[in-house]
Amino acid sequence: MKILFLDQSGKPGGAELCLVDIAKPYRDRCLVGLFADGSFRNLLEQNQIPVEVLTTHQIQVRKESSLAQGLSSIAQIAPLIAKVVQKASNYDLIYANTQKALVVGALASFFSQRPLVYHLHDILSPEHFSKTNRRIAVTCANRFASLVIANSQASKTAFIAAGGRSEITEVVYNGFDPKIYQIQESEIHHIKQQLGLDGQFVVGHFSRLAPWKGQHILIEALAQCPQEVTVLLVGDALFGEQDYIQHLHQLVTELDVDKRVKFLGFRSDIPLLMAACDLVAHTSTSPEPFGRVIVEAMLSGTRVVAAKAGGAIELVEPGKSGFLVTPGDPQELAQVIITCLKEKEKTANIANKARMTATQRFDVTQTNQQIAQLLSRLPV
Ligand code: UDP
Ligand code: GLC
Repeated sequence: MKILFLDQSGKPGGAELCLVDIAKPYRDRCLVGLFADGSFRNLLEQNQIPVEVLTTHQIQVRKESSLAQGLSSIAQIAPLIAKVVQKASNYDLIYANTQKALVVGALASFFSQRPLVYHLHDILSPEHFSKTNRRIAVTCANRFASLVIANSQASKTAFIAAGGRSEITEVVYNGFDPKIYQIQESEIHHIKQQLGLDGQFVVGHFSRLAPWKGQHILIEALAQCPQEVTVLLVGDALFGEQDYIQHLHQLVTELDVDKRVKFLGFRSDIPLLMAACDLVAHTSTSPEPFGRVIVEAMLSGTRVVAAKAGGAIELVEPGKSGFLVTPGDPQELAQVIITCLKEKEKTANIANKARMTATQRFDVTQTNQQIAQLLSRLPV
């Protein structure tokens, strides 16, 4: 089966990293069409996945856009749709990986008569999207998609609650290669030395810097933890959240924890850094659709605490594979950090069990098989 994948982003967010793994088995018979250029294109190229940037014009619709803004952007994207229609003639299927890709893919699917698959990486709730955006996504999916792949039960439930058709929607979790999370002790020792982490209890946060990812909650929790606790903030503002970065720097100064917080920016050595952490914290203040970082922490054998909402609830079994805390509550988070610090052995056992469970539940070979099976049922 020849697949035309579409993704609006030039930057490697979680949905894009997931797409790399999905597209890999099809690399000799697929094309990834992007609506922006950036380091995601390089990542696809490094993985020998054919990629083409289909437009460099920014599509103006944002998550909070109104109907008028949405409609005016349709005119802007007409040349892009024409290009996708022309590309689609060489492929059996259009696979839209993001919301703007869904809109373009829906119209292109109609004109090219190719079936459309929508990989839903979002929770389509009012917390995340305007009413107009939710309506556009649901209408395009209901009317044009033959299959919606939701990244969690939480994303599927929100899609159906927003009016999405349940009979075309299937849940497939993100898959991972467990091998890349097996790191040698000597490498861990080396990176800890390099980052000046020796003797510290290291809490890592691995997300793009954005208010809803809640890095500020971790900083507030840190201020209530003993001095030996250090925080690593790994990630950058991918979608223009420069004010938030400034806010985080101000906060660490105000709370007098500036010597205990390291901003590492965007990194490509996540498995190594996670292995060097004693605990990974996930602190999203709005429900996380899936939460790749939670599974990656488990695969690394590192303790994990996650905000109790959305997909995170499906990933973590509290006390058995990690910890769940109330979203937006620094006190509760600080308590979990202190428990992990005081009860190192007991909590390390939980992390070891989590590693085994995650290796079974989220193996990329299985998730790719699930997707291949779902695609094989489509009328191509
Ligand atoms: N990530 C990365 N480098 C960074 C920070 C994060 O490669 O500096 C990766 C992280 O390992 C994870 C992904 O980005 O695989 C983020 O996905 P997630 O589902 O956690 O959140 P999203 O940003 O997609 O909402
Ligand atoms: C999106 C979601 C994130 C999810 C990722 C991969 O970026 O925000 O929760 O893990 O897609 O499905």
